[in-house]
Amino acid sequence: MPKRRTAKIIDGKKIAADMRAELKDDIAVLAKRKVTPGLAVVLVGDDPASHVYVRMKDKACQALGIASFQHRLPANTTERRLLNLVKKLNEDKKVHGILVQLPLPKQIDEKKVLNTIDPAKDVDGFHPVNVGKMLVGEPGFLPCTPHGCQQMLLRSGYDPSGKHVVVVGRSNIVGKPVAAILMQKAPGANATVTVCHSRTKNIASITRQADILIAAMGVPEFIKSRMVKEGAIVLDVGVNRVDDKTKKSGYRLVGDVDFKAVSKKAKAISPVPGGVGPMTITMLLKNTVESAKRTVGSKRK
Ligand code: GUN
Repeated sequence: MPKRRTAKIIDGKKIAADMRAELKDDIAVLAKRKVTPGLAVVLVGDDPASHVYVRMKDKACQALGIASFQHRLPANTTERRLLNLVKKLNEDKKVHGILVQLPLPKQIDEKKVLNTIDPAKDVDGFHPVNVGKMLVGEPGFLPCTPHGCQQMLLRSGYDPSGKHVVVVGRSNIVGKPVAAILMQKAPGANATVTVCHSRTKNIASITRQADILIAAMGVPEFIKSRMVKEGAIVLDVGVNRVDDKTKKSGYRLVGDVDFKAVSKKAKAISPVPGGVGPMTITMLLKNTVESAKRTVGSKRK
């Protein structure tokens, strides 16, 4: 009988900690030039998950010596007020990165807000200028979660070059950009990429072809063992709350992958929590430090 495989865990927490240690050195160099990287985080309304994310971002900034400027606005904030705040932050020399936490309340046009952020401070990488630069392979800001996925693969020794990467999900935040990044003619990319989504026919027949499978559709435990090739590398981007009466909070977090079953078949897999999540925040910190470095380089202080 062949021995049952148990996947290696791709430990996002550990990789993120290594990257944050590297960032500390960059921050120390900036400090010698009297520059403290600054991140402005704007949170509108009372979405509980958004509050948790924003708190985590604030803590991560503080731990590294990045100045964090929090702007919490009520749920009934007008679009005009938010746009005015973004414009003010665009002009603020202490702010190197601006992040407007999504989703925004219904009365606010999300696109309009994202398009108002100065692309040079768009550390989320959501502005169309940065999206365009990503697509054509010019330096800009890469979106944090997809860039984090790429770093996880590379730092775990899984270069996507020549591999078949199957992405499940086509969101602007993860699915589309991770496909764009990994298909680039560039070191750490060069993959053959297929994107599946809710209208894809016979999705399992495609996911089973993946050397590297990236699950980012936001459906709890959608990827079952039969949908995964023996020996595949699996990144789980999903963060879903499911009811769990045994927990004090009343819920637990699961990814988009049936972790227990798939980890018996995959060669390596990222867990939820402790996988992609810590990487997303780390890439945000990295973009903020990068933005601060660029201001020093160009004397735009
Ligand atoms: N909401 C969920 N993910 C993100 C993210 O990466 N950035 C922002 N700004 N909002 C989000």
